[in-house]
Amino acid sequence: MAIINVHDKQFETYLSDEVIGQRIRELAAAINSDYAGRRPLFIAILNGSFMFASDLFKHLDIEAELCFIKLASYKGMKSSGNVVTSIGLEDDLFDKEVIIVEDIVDTGKTLHNFLPKLQHQQPKSMKIATLLHKKEATAYPLTLDYVGFEIPDKFVVGYGLDYDGLGRNLKEIYQLV
Ligand code: IMP
Repeated sequence: MAIINVHDKQFETYLSDEVIGQRIRELAAAINSDYAGRRPLFIAILNGSFMFASDLFKHLDIEAELCFIKLASYKGMKSSGNVVTSIGLEDDLFDKEVIIVEDIVDTGKTLHNFLPKLQHQQPKSMKIATLLHKKEATAYPLTLDYVGFEIPDKFVVGYGLDYDGLGRNLKEIYQLV
């Protein structure tokens, strides 16, 4: 098992790139089947979801749109959870079939605070796809429709997720030792 350092902390391999890739193909297959004949708009939340959104999108064979938005940031190892605003949402969501793409749902506060802003625009439907879910840490009610991996309440980096700005480029997901 590989041990790496990011800033002052040690992390060990948790999910290999093969395991992540396989699971993303399964999620894409489920979305292809659920959305056959429809045209969903994927709204991927930056920065963390960029790799997941990109790999998921490659495996879609339905017509689909994609946009990236940015919410309030996450500093260090504790979720701030205060969504101030979103930047980059130019699409009008009225009557759209929206799929939110997240890297990780931790407390759930980010999405819990943000979803009503999207619902306000009256999309036809709205679902959530998240690569990772820290079930034990989730304190806000959320229905997660597509979940890559349920993980323990331990800090992770890699595959788009950072620890204080670093680690996003790692192909695997690493867990704090
Ligand atoms: P929530 O609002 O507590 O659900 O936090 C969601 C956001 O916190 C995610 O989109 C990540 O940006 C960040 N986050 C939560 N847990 C981790 C982690 O273990 N590693 C890196 N970022 C995390």
